[in-house]
Order: sequence, then C-alpha cells, then structure tokens
Amino acid sequence: MIAPSMLASDFSRIGEEVRRVAEAGADLIHLDVMDGHFVPNLTMGPQLIKSIRSYTDLPFDVHLMLSEPQAYIDAFVDAGADLITVHIEIEEQLPTIIDQIKSHGVKVGIALRPKTPVTAVDPYLAEVDLILPMSVEPGFGGQSFQKDTLNKIGQLWQLIQARRLDVAIEVDGGINQETAALVGRCGATVLVAGTAIFGQDDLHHAIRSLRQAAASG
Ligand code: DX5
Ligand code: ZN
Repeated sequence: MIAPSMLASDFSRIGEEVRRVAEAGADLIHLDVMDGHFVPNLTMGPQLIKSIRSYTDLPFDVHLMLSEPQAYIDAFVDAGADLITVHIEIEEQLPTIIDQIKSHGVKVGIALRPKTPVTAVDPYLAEVDLILPMSVEPGFGGQSFQKDTLNKIGQLWQLIQARRLDVAIEVDGGINQETAALVGRCGATVLVAGTAIFGQDDLHHAIRSLRQAAASG
C-alpha cells in the first residue's frame, strides 16, 4: 500500500491535495503530527485533520511525533483517524495509550526512530496492527533513506512470521523507486512517501511506480 505523506503537499490547499492524491490511487493518507519537542518541527493538529476529513474516504494514517500524545488521542480519533501511530520512545506511557486507542476501535501502530532497536517493540508486537521503523530521523521530509532500516524490517518480518501475527510493516522516510524495491523485498507492505510523490507532476504515475517497485523487490 502507498501512503502519501501530506507533509510534502501544498499546505495552502491541503484539502485539494488530499483529494488529488486519493484520485491518483493512494491507499492511505499519511498525516505527520509534530510538537516541536519530540522532534524539532511543528506541523498540524486535530483541527486541521478534521477539516480535511471530508475530502476523501481513504483511511487516515496519523503519525504522532509527540512527547506526550496521551492528552490528544481522543481529539485525533474525533478528527477522523483510522490508524494512530505513536513512538516507542515515549516508553512508560505506551501501554495505556495502546489501550486508549483501541478502546475507540481505531488501529494502533508503533514507530521506532532509526537508532531504536527492534527488541524495544518486541513485547508489543501481539498488541498492535502495525510497526513503523523510521528510515530517517523523524521531523522533516526530503531526507535520504538510512540503509540500516533494511535489517530492522527483516528482523521484524521474521518475528511477525514466527509468531503468526497479523502486523503490517510500514516504512517512512526517503522512499523512492529504488528504496521502495529494497524495503518491499525485506517485507514492508505500507510505504509512506512525501517528496517522491508530491515532487512529481503526474501523481498517478508516481504512486503506481512506487507500488510496482515495491512489488518487484
Ligand atoms: C518525517 C515524516 C515523513 C516524511 C517523509 O518525520 O514522518 O512522513 O513526510 O518524507 P519523504 O518521503 O520526503 O522522506
Ligand atoms: Zn510520517
């Protein structure tokens, strides 16, 4: 599945951008929420997400890069999130937040920064719908893919298979035609891409090429 990151879209008309990418064949809409603390950037909040919810029926994949997401989970659910991903690095808050997200019937993901090992998420694998090993330091679009991520995807894939779990592996950061093939080969099934999609004039072609590259890997 291809999840365009709206971070790379034209924020002055973000609703239209959501519609444009949905019509071009996206599977999910990836929304990056940053607090200026967990990461050194600020982006959007629940009010903005709610305002673009009516532009598509596609699921909203909300990536929370927040030090303290707990107080905002209900607002993101109300804004129309279908999947909420929080970072493993918030540690002690995690069990409560997983339960909180699930209590709303919304899917749960856990993201890892590039330097966080797979062993950190191991205890949570059976409880979540998705794991997101970040392939760049979270905070900004347009960075280069970190190749170490491939090992992590492979390790995650093996753990998930060995336990016969139904957990998707998403990758986020520096995904283009070349890296899509690499992550697809290692077992990733959800690919986030910002620059590689919104940097093209033909969004349909950009999305289809990434999907084909991932499948061919
Ligand atoms: C970075 C965000 C990504 C970002 C990806 O913290 O989580 O979703 O938008 O951008 P590209 O695809 O340009 O690397
Ligand atoms: Zn993201």
